[in-house]
Amino acid sequence: KRVAILLSGGGSNMVALVRSMTGDHPARPCLVGSNDPEAGGLRRAAELGVPTVAIDHRPFKGDRPGFEAALTAALEEAAPDIVALAGFMRILTPGFVDRWAGRLLNIHPSLLPKYRGLDTHARAIAAGDTEAGCTVHEVTAALDDGPILGQARVPILPEDTPAALAARVLVQEHRLYPLVLRRFAEGRRDRIDL
Ligand code: GRF
Repeated sequence: KRVAILLSGGGSNMVALVRSMTGDHPARPCLVGSNDPEAGGLRRAAELGVPTVAIDHRPFKGDRPGFEAALTAALEEAAPDIVALAGFMRILTPGFVDRWAGRLLNIHPSLLPKYRGLDTHARAIAAGDTEAGCTVHEVTAALDDGPILGQARVPILPEDTPAALAARVLVQEHRLYPLVLRRFAEGRRDRIDL
């Protein structure tokens, strides 16, 4: 299986995914793409020997379909079987989601269905929750809302700041996403809970 990974930032999830695809793993990374030419994850992907592409979203301001057409063209050239969003911070239109339906994954830093959207850790702390975590799900047209493929939970500690909680959750993201990706590549859809 060929896996394309899309990111917007440092790409720590991408690194975990790429490093997991070795040996008897049924998948290999075929492309790492970003909407930001300066994304640190592009350099890290190149260091790992994975082809990269940057589709700067800024020239497409106000033209989301145009940006997505350019992104889709780059993806099609790499012919992925699976597209994994990993810290990709652009909203995708239903048109893009439909084009990649059934093979589009995302990791979200909350225990969905709680805290869709942004600032998940600050919201969980503010709500007085005692646990938080991350979710890997199939991407559908609705934001952060597709079938859940896996979750990992961490405690929220009394003096937690959003940054401290984010760091604790990120460690679990790096465990969960590779496990879910492998099972997804093997055709399994049963949910993992860590
Ligand atoms: C992190 O906040 C992570 O929770 C979310 O995307 C952000 C950046 O992750 N999935 P990465 O280091 O770029 O993978």
